[in-house]
Amino acid sequence: MKGFFITLEGPDGGGKTTQAKLLLEFLEEQGRPGLHTVEPGGTEIGRAIRALVLNPRWRQMASRTELLLMAADRAQHVAEVIRPALAAGLVVVCERYVDSSLAYQGYGLGEDLRLIDQANELAAGGLLPDLTIVLDVEPATALARTACRTQRDRIEGRGLEFQARVREGYQKLCAAFPERMHLISAEGDVKAVHRRIAELVASRIPGRG
Ligand code: TMP
Repeated sequence: MKGFFITLEGPDGGGKTTQAKLLLEFLEEQGRPGLHTVEPGGTEIGRAIRALVLNPRWRQMASRTELLLMAADRAQHVAEVIRPALAAGLVVVCERYVDSSLAYQGYGLGEDLRLIDQANELAAGGLLPDLTIVLDVEPATALARTACRTQRDRIEGRGLEFQARVREGYQKLCAAFPERMHLISAEGDVKAVHRRIAELVASRIPGRG
């Protein structure tokens, strides 16, 4: 069976982890075993990078350092987890990937989008998702969902205006790559959002064999 690569994108507090788990259960029911993974932090090295890049202590971190740390995490993740899983015929469900760098470091922080494409190319070696689902939610709603955490991480702490630019970035990316990227409203009932995602995935994933 050929592997299939799905990424889930969207703001912090958009419900990606919940939806990834529900999607994997759905895939299992369809006889398609999957692998759930995340960026940053899908490998042991990645978890060390995640602890560094999200630590609120590093207020002086330059946006390019942030971009390159995300890319380093991705390079390890692609080599160690994603490519082997796809080669084994699994459906990879990955929370965040190349589009997070475009949305956050590009649209959010104002880094040059062409430079980010280059960093993504270096990290991923041209491996793009077969399908990208962007969970779209009002920044205020998303931010409120992360408010219960004891301490916001370095990127969550950037506030509403930043999150609004990220959201707009995702919307632009979806408009630019309509074949691969799909915007799905993440407002409201978890099960209703899952049904929208499952319907889309079922329509795109090739049959078994
Ligand atoms: P998470 O909390 O959804 O796991 O994501 C961690 C944070 O990292 C989130 O605020 C988004 C950010 N991020 C980037 O800014 N650029 C990237 O390339 C990736 C993968 C994540």
